[in-house]
Amino acid sequence: MPPSKPLVLVTRPIPTDWLSSLEKSCEIFVGLLSEPETQARLAEAEGLYSLLIDRVDEALLQKMPRVRVVSNMAVGVDNIDLAACTRHGIPVGNTPGVLTDATADLTMALLLTAARRLPEANADARAGRWGKWSPTAWLGADLRGATLGIVGLGKIGQAVAARAVGFGLRLVYAAHSVKPEAEAQWGAVRLSLQELLRQSDFVIILVPLNAETRSLIGENELRAMKPSAILVNAARGPIVDTAALQRALSENWIAGAALDVTDPEPLPPDHPLYTLPNCFIAPHIGSATRGTRRGMAELACENLLAGLEGRQLIHCANPEVYGSDA
Ligand code: GLV
Repeated sequence: MPPSKPLVLVTRPIPTDWLSSLEKSCEIFVGLLSEPETQARLAEAEGLYSLLIDRVDEALLQKMPRVRVVSNMAVGVDNIDLAACTRHGIPVGNTPGVLTDATADLTMALLLTAARRLPEANADARAGRWGKWSPTAWLGADLRGATLGIVGLGKIGQAVAARAVGFGLRLVYAAHSVKPEAEAQWGAVRLSLQELLRQSDFVIILVPLNAETRSLIGENELRAMKPSAILVNAARGPIVDTAALQRALSENWIAGAALDVTDPEPLPPDHPLYTLPNCFIAPHIGSATRGTRRGMAELACENLLAGLEGRQLIHCANPEVYGSDA
């Protein structure tokens, strides 16, 4: 009898051609983690292909004694208890790089949408409030010469910076370490978070969500911003305190916000944030282009196969699992 193929659990339906590299060497089972049929296969699974909405924690790992690799189809891994995976000797894959351009493009789209008040202008036009052309209607913010503060100058932050200089924005950033290339190439200036918030006309959040960044932007931070400033969150919802942001927008501590991520997600349709004309909300679509999502799916497959074959993952979020020589 030929040796059986390792079972890989995929937690949501994914276009089958995006998973084609798994087909030859794996048995694929697609199902939500919460479903009884999936629960029944957990003990057999040797690979887990997860999405950012799946919680991968100690309790799940306890039910998956044979699992040898977790591959998240996302760059963010805040849905995964990395320490628990490391304790179990399980490498966790993620998908940086392939989504950088799409996410940076969407981030600039959010910035422009809020700066030029597109949702208000669009709503007014649709509702018949488009009268004669007026020199003073729907005035937005100028980009050229304004200061853009980027919180977190990783791959996506740098791709946003590259785009932003084309719009004539002056760049400041807050990050753990100095980014000499960004400083040399774009004249970006490193500031403390408080100083960045104080100086910036636009603030873009692009840090990963972890214990240190949860609620990084709360009442104090929002009050430190200029009343004319715009906040863009393209990272993870819980980095910004939702209740504080709601007050900031309705009491005009800041001028506007554009969010691709919220806390909670999905944001329920009756949430007060939707009623604020100065708040634009997209449903977590930063990487949602056809080519990017396929690229993420394929990279997640490569990580998964590497883990099953005992090779080092191409992108591993817990490299300590390989020991200090890795
Ligand atoms: C998207 O939010 C991702 O982390 O890939």
